[in-house]
Amino acid sequence: MLGAGNCNDLDLEQVAEAFEAIHLVDLDEEAVQGARGRQPQTVAAKLISRAPIDLSGAFAELPQLRGKSVSAAELKALSQMALENVTAALPERFDTVLSACLLSQIMFSAYVALGSHPQLAQIGGALAVAHLLALRKLARPGGRVLFVTDTVSSKTYPLRERWDEQPPLALLAQLNQTNNVLSGTALPFVRRVLAAEASFLAESPLLVEPWLWDVNNDVTLLVYAVVLKLRSA
Ligand SMILES: C[S@@+](CC[C@H](N)C(=O)[O-])C[C@H]1O[C@@H](n2cnc3c(N)ncnc32)[C@H](O)[C@@H]1O
Repeated sequence: MLGAGNCNDLDLEQVAEAFEAIHLVDLDEEAVQGARGRQPQTVAAKLISRAPIDLSGAFAELPQLRGKSVSAAELKALSQMALENVTAALPERFDTVLSACLLSQIMFSAYVALGSHPQLAQIGGALAVAHLLALRKLARPGGRVLFVTDTVSSKTYPLRERWDEQPPLALLAQLNQTNNVLSGTALPFVRRVLAAEASFLAESPLLVEPWLWDVNNDVTLLVYAVVLKLRSA
């Protein structure tokens, strides 16, 4: 599970029934240890802490890009390096790989590291590509990838108020068309990146209809998921 953190958004007891081991990967070691500590012993015994690991694969590089113009070749190299760093940090290949609302955090980290860099969108895009490609690489042939991402926050759009006005997929499409989604998490962009992975897939990516996640009393997020089923070797 990538971006496991406090594991508040995952029913670990239920997941543990289906898996022999669950690797909790996150930058935040304390959050993962805390999540493990809150589980019943039978569940905790299956949880393997993989923290701290930087799943952007590029935290060390980003400060050096501040105020610097980045060429197309450098963007490509950044994406490749990020991908290699992540797959090197997690050398195993897993039955199921879950990205749990991590991409938005990687985008946010890029913003924090780079400030108002004129190429923030491109650099963030390079990291988003690396993240999406890493998911498939971390899964074994025949395995599955569950890419889950928040894409719009109630801080920037009245999600609750508009939720009942149209079906969730239509709302997502409208928010994409009107540029209301967080950079790097737009579904058309995700689809384009995943299209390059088609030869590794047993079937077309499955889009899971968006839903609302009440993170707390103040923030609601629009979340969607894409499921990939990989070809057997
Ligand atoms: C929105 S939270 C996901 C929710 C989380 N599953 C929970 O219930 O707490 C995103 C998680 O991504 C982690 N994260 C952010 N940037 C990261 C990075 N570069 N590498 C690894 N984890 C990162 C944060 O520490 C946080 O735990």
